[in-house]
Amino acid sequence: MSMRRAKSEPVGKQSLNLILMAGHAGSFREIDGGRKIAKKTNQKECEIYASPGELREIVPAVERTNQDDREVIDMGENVVIMQNMFYGIQAQSLVALDIKIGKSTASRAQLFESGEKSQVGAFFKEMKMKLYDYYTKSSTRGWRAIPVNDQNRAKIGRNSEIFLMEQLERVNVNKNAMITNIICQLDRIKTKLEQSQKTFIASSVLIVINLQYPENARVKLIDLAHPIYANNKLFKKYKENFNEGMNSLIAFFKCCAAE
Ligand SMILES: Nc1ncnc2c1ncn2[C@@H]1O[C@H](COP(=O)(O)OP(=O)(O)O)[C@@H](O)[C@H]1O
Ligand SMILES: [Mg+2]
Repeated sequence: MSMRRAKSEPVGKQSLNLILMAGHAGSFREIDGGRKIAKKTNQKECEIYASPGELREIVPAVERTNQDDREVIDMGENVVIMQNMFYGIQAQSLVALDIKIGKSTASRAQLFESGEKSQVGAFFKEMKMKLYDYYTKSSTRGWRAIPVNDQNRAKIGRNSEIFLMEQLERVNVNKNAMITNIICQLDRIKTKLEQSQKTFIASSVLIVINLQYPENARVKLIDLAHPIYANNKLFKKYKENFNEGMNSLIAFFKCCAAE
């Protein structure tokens, strides 16, 4: 057992607690001593993780997507086992920013096509999401912050800029190098998605900062449960939706850098 393992005994637990507190208790599990997490998801997200193609470098590293693993066998189908981006970071040094991309974070047609809602169900879900996009100002800002613990989602979404700035204020060293690095990775995600034959509705960028080494901040695209492919009539609209959101988020970080 390495020093780090011994010292970080509780770390796995703490990061699991973060995920659990966000209301994902049923769909996430830590495995392999916290190095990996298993996410119970839908078939579409599973397929993307199984063959990420051009997205490989911008999504969390995938271990496997089958469930022949004893640790996850009871989770049923469509389980993705991926790298736990929080692993090895002490809880008090972890800054995790989940930022949902897009002015619009739901689409009735997409909800209906994905088979997850009846037409009426999809209609009401879309209405609810539109109101939520409006309330949290996603619809004008192009992105919103999602708390990774049990804080008030609507309130934090609505005050996303303040929330992000407060989180970034926790960084005491190498802040400019960190922001430059984050902008660079956001740019890469944007470019990869521009070149891709798919786009996503309601996906997030997950920014993970270790306050001990903030300059090594890592950014990945997560929550890929609602992909839209090039043959879909909504493709162009949602590609633009994603691109605009990324531009707006990059502009925000550039403002932070300028201060
Ligand atoms: N690879 C990962 N490493 C660490 N934490 C993760 C990872 N993927 C997701 N999470 C955590 O779980 C939360 C929910 O993940 P997400 O994929 O958005 O699930 P959901 O579809 O339930 O919204 C994220 O906000 C993040 O805190
Ligand atoms: Mg999410």
